[in-house]
Amino acid sequence: MIIAIDGPAASGKGTLARKLAQHYGYRHLDTGVIYRAVGYALLQAGADLRDEALAVRAAMELDPDTFGNPALKSQKAGEAASVVSAIPRVREVLLDFQRRFAATPPGAVLDGRDIGTVICPDAEVKIFVVADAKVRAHRRALEAKSRGEEADEAKILADIIQRDERDRTRASAPLKQAADAYLLDNTNLDIEAGVRAAIDIVEAVRAGRQRV
Ligand code: C5P
Repeated sequence: MIIAIDGPAASGKGTLARKLAQHYGYRHLDTGVIYRAVGYALLQAGADLRDEALAVRAAMELDPDTFGNPALKSQKAGEAASVVSAIPRVREVLLDFQRRFAATPPGAVLDGRDIGTVICPDAEVKIFVVADAKVRAHRRALEAKSRGEEADEAKILADIIQRDERDRTRASAPLKQAADAYLLDNTNLDIEAGVRAAIDIVEAVRAGRQRV
């Protein structure tokens, strides 16, 4: 089974996807890390983030062993990811990697922006996670502080709003809820309650399929 989790930045979809995968014994791919790795490679090279040739090359040379690098979690890497991810050729190059991951047994949970719409349109379960922007900014600030980074919540909120706008309005694979995705509003749910709500959705879909 493939479970697609999409949603805007800092909606809590990453943790939710990881815990959902643990619950079902599936593999988990945080697809944001892929775009962050490409953006970070350009930052490291001191290159222009809109340099298509360099971004495509970084995507082709993607090394999953670097996905655990803590530098990829930074606000800067997230911003860079949002810029390079708007380049259609970059998305094209990264498509195969994601589809292969999704198709590998025993099952997979992928989280990102276009999993239910582009990468895995046939996923058995699709969940679109949303949360109020101020709540998302607050959670990101707490995360940054827990890593010992400085966190200016007002700036984080401005960045989140700008990133949402860029992700929603880009021409290539924009962030949007798939027609057959369930909406999960995470604003007033803690992590455990969000995971329970997601499991309820998966179980409801499974039960519905068994009845057919
Ligand atoms: O989710 P995360 O904050 O790690 O994503 C960083 C950026 O990567 C997003 O703002 C988005 O522009 C891009 N992204 C994407 N498609 C995905 C996952 C992330 O375009 N499937």
